[in-house]
Amino acid sequence: MLIEELDILKNTVLGEIDLIQYSERKKLADIRVRVFGKNGTLTLISKGMRDVEPQDRPRVGALINEVRNAIENSLAMKENQFKNQELNEKLENEKIDITEPAKCQSKGAVHPISDVIDKMIDICVKMGFSVVEGPEVESDYYNFEAMNIPKNHPSRDMQDTFFINDNILLRSQTSAVQAREMEIRKPPFKIICPGKTYRNDSDSTHSPIFHQLEGLVIDENVSMADLKSMLTILMKRLFGEDTTIRFRPSFFPFTEPSIEVDVSCPTCHGKGCSLCKSTGMLELLGAGIVNPKVLEISGIDSKKYRGFAFGFGLDRTAMILNSIGNIKYLYKNDIRFLDQMK
Ligand code: PHE
Repeated sequence: MLIEELDILKNTVLGEIDLIQYSERKKLADIRVRVFGKNGTLTLISKGMRDVEPQDRPRVGALINEVRNAIENSLAMKENQFKNQELNEKLENEKIDITEPAKCQSKGAVHPISDVIDKMIDICVKMGFSVVEGPEVESDYYNFEAMNIPKNHPSRDMQDTFFINDNILLRSQTSAVQAREMEIRKPPFKIICPGKTYRNDSDSTHSPIFHQLEGLVIDENVSMADLKSMLTILMKRLFGEDTTIRFRPSFFPFTEPSIEVDVSCPTCHGKGCSLCKSTGMLELLGAGIVNPKVLEISGIDSKKYRGFAFGFGLDRTAMILNSIGNIKYLYKNDIRFLDQMK
């Protein structure tokens, strides 16, 4: 009786396992419970051993083991097969196509003013200048008085700026850094200072906030010839070797003599175009031999030392280098404009 039951159980379960497809693989666990579980078919049959005649027990016992092993093996084989299939399916789904073109990040660009500052620093550092910075919120003393522009001096009119109170203002020129550096440095020295400056001005070539680059050289035998040759090299490196330079007499309270410097228009090379307003030249900076009074105010012996100084308008330089028609574009933060600087 039991033997027959075991035979039937073995054949039906093995047949059932054989037919199970990958999609119905959960059924394997059900069969395991149905056969080997607490009330599973084989478990109950094993319990029935009690009623088997003692002389038949070894044979029935061996058969039970055989059936158990056969079903276990068959289940294990199927489970293994499905596991491999599952793994392959996963690998297939997670496959990375390395030939697919990458998604491009849109690239940023250096702002034209930062670009000019970088270029200027690069050129000047090679000439032996150190780069320094000064405060944008400055005292009346450093911005004006130490630069030989006393209170109520008419030349203050040209640099009307934004006052925080009677003594504190937004610096109208990077020249304010000259006095600060002369106070703390021992000559000889060569410095440049790029930075923001402020004035009460606003039109297509003036903005209330703009940028300058100040240069100062203090040494024993500094002359106008040194200033002119240094500026000529700087301009040619910045705008190209074929650039011509024009020096004009000018006036600044802190330099004596003073000059203004123009470069040939890099767009039309001096022929005349809309950028240079048909003059062929563009005004770019003020410069001169440091007024001995300015040296004395900041504690430098004007009998022993002389100096030259220059102050570039960086916005203008950026506009010239990139043919930008209106200074306001530099401050609009418009991606369409900045995109063109790539
Ligand atoms: N500070 C002057 C200006 O803003 C420029 C300048 C700098 C002139 C240094 C001479 C020497 O106009």
